Amino acid sequence: MEQIISLLDVKKDFPIFKQKVNGKPLVYLDSAATSQKPIDVLNTLEEYYKEYNSNVFRAIHTLGEKATEKYEEARKKVASFINSSPKEIIFTRNTTESINLVVRTWGKANIKKDDTILLTEMEHHSNLVPWLMLAKEQNAKISYIPITEEGLLDIKKSQELISKKPKILALTHISNVLGTINPIKELIQLAHRNNVAVLVDAAQSVPHMKVDVKDLDADFLAFSGHKMFGPTGIGVLFGKRKLLESIEPLYGGGEMIKEVFYTHATWNDVPHKFEAGTPHIAGAIGLGAAIDYLQKIGMQNIFEHNQKLTEYALNKLKQVKGIKIYGPLDSKLRNGVISFNLADIHPHDLSTVLDEEGIAIRSGHACAMPLHDKLGITASARVSFHVYNTFEDVDKLILALEKARKVFRL
Ligand SMILES: Cc1ncc(COP(=O)(O)O)c(C=O)c1O
Repeated sequence: MEQIISLLDVKKDFPIFKQKVNGKPLVYLDSAATSQKPIDVLNTLEEYYKEYNSNVFRAIHTLGEKATEKYEEARKKVASFINSSPKEIIFTRNTTESINLVVRTWGKANIKKDDTILLTEMEHHSNLVPWLMLAKEQNAKISYIPITEEGLLDIKKSQELISKKPKILALTHISNVLGTINPIKELIQLAHRNNVAVLVDAAQSVPHMKVDVKDLDADFLAFSGHKMFGPTGIGVLFGKRKLLESIEPLYGGGEMIKEVFYTHATWNDVPHKFEAGTPHIAGAIGLGAAIDYLQKIGMQNIFEHNQKLTEYALNKLKQVKGIKIYGPLDSKLRNGVISFNLADIHPHDLSTVLDEEGIAIRSGHACAMPLHDKLGITASARVSFHVYNTFEDVDKLILALEKARKVFRL
């Protein structure tokens, strides 16, 4: 076996790695689905529930004030993490809800009959299905920026499609199947020169690299707390303040109002007008702790760590007989995600064999059915990394794949 070098020695910060799975130490290669949680985040959640559990905004008592302060402090942490302002940060449940919020508010108000919504062929269902629903309702059209053989966006085609002035370009920053890092800054500039709004699905990028919404000039950007060491059930929608102020809220109810009468109501300021009802207080505060943890390690270190692992894994995987890897083979063009098929072994069967070795991978269509159709397959196996993964994890994966080859008599 290769000499084992841990890049970042952080496994000890994640209690889940203390246990064994099927009698083996856990090798978690499914962080693109959801990441593991560091002890700091777990302690923060426990502290909220044990020490100052109460509702936000409504209570004028010590606990309520502390909860409100911590909730708003978390919003500030999120804002500064992506270089925006707290007024531009809406807490949602996840990326999916963030995208749906834009579709149902800005989309419904701005996309009309015969308008075009521009997506790419590598979108996750979360950035595809809501637009399909809206297009059907409004009699609008959807176009797709195609991908090349290598799994990159076809830039020439993007220019052509953007110059046709769709109403919005909604695209993923990093593909959850191909791992491709899309040149979103250039595409946003091009879109804005053509008066096209841009929504970025940053579910796979914000957890792994520095994302600066001002530098990118994104109009909307969505991501999930649970993929970046935070709890499940908390997500973020960033929107430029002027845009958020120009649109109607989606949900009505507590805390999103300014005044309510029997006949009508007026809305609270942004971002509160988009946060109806009791929010996921613990989730937001836990996400704040996750951001502290990410920043302690450093986003550049995290990015480089995942790049090194991706390069190492690609080189090793390429040598496995019968493997077909999807997406760019140049590791510099991708980050943290590698999808593949091993001969004609169904990915679910492969996943089962790997699970016996304590190795958790994703198998299936990874919520990207049209992309799998495009690749001419129905399913794939996917490994994805985060800071707690090591070269040793990759070596174990390769050994387990060799075992699978034997089990299935290849
Ligand atoms: C690129 C991308 N977009 C959107 C999502 C949806 O995220 P969530 O399920 O947290 O809403 C995912 C989740 O895997 C993703 O990878």
